[in-house]
Parts: sequence; structure tokens; C-alpha cells
Amino acid sequence: MKTILLSAFLFFFSATLFGQGFVANYDESKMPSYTLPDPLIFNNGVPVKNQNDWKKRRIEIVDLFENEVYGKTPAAKVHLTSKVLSENLNAFNGKAIRKEVQLKLEKDGEELLLNVLIFLPKSVKPVPLFLAYNFNGNHTVAKDPEIAITTSWLKSNGMVGNKAESSTELQRGTDVSSWPVEEIIARGYGVATVYCGDADPDFDDGFKNGVHKLFKEVRNGSSWGTIAGWAWGLSRVMDYLEKEKAVNSKQVAVLGHSRLGKAALWAGVKDPRFAIVVSNESGCGGAALSKRIYGETVERINQSFPHWFCENFRKYNRKEEDLPIDQHELLALIAPRPLYVCSAEEDRWADPKGEFLSCVNASPVYQLLGKEGFPGKDFPELNKPVTGTIGYHIRPGKHAITPYDWGCFMNFADGFFKKNRE
Ligand code: GCU
Repeated sequence: MKTILLSAFLFFFSATLFGQGFVANYDESKMPSYTLPDPLIFNNGVPVKNQNDWKKRRIEIVDLFENEVYGKTPAAKVHLTSKVLSENLNAFNGKAIRKEVQLKLEKDGEELLLNVLIFLPKSVKPVPLFLAYNFNGNHTVAKDPEIAITTSWLKSNGMVGNKAESSTELQRGTDVSSWPVEEIIARGYGVATVYCGDADPDFDDGFKNGVHKLFKEVRNGSSWGTIAGWAWGLSRVMDYLEKEKAVNSKQVAVLGHSRLGKAALWAGVKDPRFAIVVSNESGCGGAALSKRIYGETVERINQSFPHWFCENFRKYNRKEEDLPIDQHELLALIAPRPLYVCSAEEDRWADPKGEFLSCVNASPVYQLLGKEGFPGKDFPELNKPVTGTIGYHIRPGKHAITPYDWGCFMNFADGFFKKNRE
């Protein structure tokens, strides 16, 4: 009886502490041995021999990610119109233009509004630009009273000023440390950002809000989740950027941090108009290999965020070995376009080494397409970015996107964009 009581207590204690009994593995020696699927072998076992073969193999891998991980993006088109909400032609002491543009996406009587906040340096025309979602509303990105406060659903996350799932004036500028806009402008880049919750609110509402409402869907095993919905939203912003004369739409880098990094990678895969793709600490379901079982796992992410992926992804809960793909193949789908991945030393949850190994294992596809991929196989030292067509850095510190990270992204982008504008 005593033993039963003790085990019940221990079970209850660990379940409370770790949420459903989950304890993350941070020990390389406890990882299972695993074999990564080879992106250069067709599903039927035939090797990919040339670039033409890769075009067909790429379709197979995209299908696998759509059916098993992110879900299928509906093919139907939406009607897009835009209107300028506000504009400042002399932002940052006259060095930049700041404007906010509202995109209205309409389909069968439903509409979705995406507010795009854009900063463009006046020194460069047309401007190469980074496009990235923000986590908590455009008004948190800069301390500028003219930026509209989001009216979209906002998670009550303990931020200053968060009041019953709505945002307030007090949040203005609370995320400036993630958005070094002045430095970005000084380096000759523009930046466009949208609150991710405009495209799809980040909670499990049974498929009723955001993009799902727009497409009036009933969820099935391979229906898209929020990550794919966010990725689709980035492409709609790109539709608009293509019409914006001040922007060089051939030089748009899509970027994202963490869950939004997962979305940026999938957006980069689905939409070849993104010239560079940047993943900042995207971790599980992003750049990190799933089969390593290090940090966050497939089961854990599906339990905590049941709305992010398609339902079929749950088949691989505690069965990562059965996954027919792994995340290095997601990165390979971006080839031959430049790709930058970064990690933070203390962000073990996102598995820095797993993110790095994805870069290395995506490289054979880049090489088949005549590009370098990631140079070498050695894990870079802290603060020493290593770059080929794939770049990677790991910096000290925690899970965040910092001005140092942005500096590396811009150095990387300079290598591909700058030569075309001088
Ligand atoms: C959680 C989640 C991660 C995600 C992160 C974030 O930690 O488990 O998968 O990347 O949130 O978006 O900040």
C-alpha cells in the first residue's frame, strides 16, 4: 500500500513539474541512434542523379511535409487590396520612411486584415528588405505613437499592459530589443513586420479563426495548422511588396524567430519569391532534426501546441524514427537560395546542434544544384558565423533574437544582395 501511495505521489509530482510527465533529454549519450532519410533518394529507392531528377524529388519531399507535418495549404486565391493607415516621411531624423499599410484579404464574404509596418531607408532605391512576423503587435516593435495598436487577439502573457487578451498603450515599444530598426536602416535594409496573430491567432480554437475562417474549412488529418497559415500570410505580404515600388521585391529575405522561424522556413519552401530565408532558433518543427530526441520532441510540441501542425504529425509522437522525412530536408527544399540558421547556446530546448546538423545534411542538395551549401562539417565556435550558401552561427545566451543576430543576418544578406546594388 505504501509503495502504491509513494508511486502515485511521485507520478503526480513529476507530472505537475514537467507537464504530462515530460522530461526533456539534454544528454547526447541518451539519444537513440538514428538514420536520416536521404533527400537525394526517391521514395522508391532510386537515387537522384541530376538537377532534373531533383525537381521531381523536391515535389515528393514537399508532399511529405504537407501530408505529415505542416498540412496542406489551400490552393484557392484570395482578393487582396491595401490602404495606407499612416505614413511618416521623416522617421529616424529624416533617414527613413515609416508607414503602416493594411492588407485586406477577401474570400467568399470573409475577410482577414494584415497590418504591415514598414521602415524603408531613404538612402537605397529600391530597398532590399527583411520580412518577419512579430509576436505581440506592431506597436511593440518601436516606440512610435503613430503605430496602430493591434486589435487582433493577443495572448495574455504577463507583458506590461496586457489586459484581458487585449493590448494597451503601455505595450508600445516593449519589444524594441528584438527589432534594431535604426541599425537595419543604417545598413541600407528595409524591414516589414506583421503581428502573427493578424494571420492566425496563436491558440487552439478548433479551426475557427484566422486563415481557417477565411477558407471555411473543416479540419482533417492533413489540413494545415497555424505554422502553415502564418507561412501563407507571409506570401500575401509578398504579393503586396511586389507592388510596392520602393521595395526591391527580388531581394526580400524572409525571417522568423522561434515559432515564427518555423513559419519563415515553411514560407521559404512554399514561395520561391523569398530570395533568402533566415531561421532564428526555430527548433523542433523548424531547423532542428526531430530524430535526435534532444530538447523539445514531436509529442511535446503536438501536446502543447495542437494547432501548429497537421493532425497527421501526431502519428510520430514518441515515434520519430517512423518519420519519412526530417528537418534537414526542409532546409534542402530552400536550395539553391541562400539560407541562414542560428542558435543560442543556452537555448537547449531548440537543440542547437540539431539545427546545425540540419544545415550540414541539407548541403548535398545545394551541391547538386551547383552551390556550396554549408562549408565543412565542424560545429562553429560561439560568435563565429560560418557561411557558404548556408550560413550558421551560435551565440552565447538565451532564446531571443538580438541585435547581434540581426547584424549576422545583414552580413550574410550583403554577400548576396549588395553586389547587385553597387
Ligand atoms: C515554445 C515552443 C517552441 C517555440 C517557442 C517560441 O518554447 O515549445 O517550439 O519555438 O515556444 O516560439 O518561442
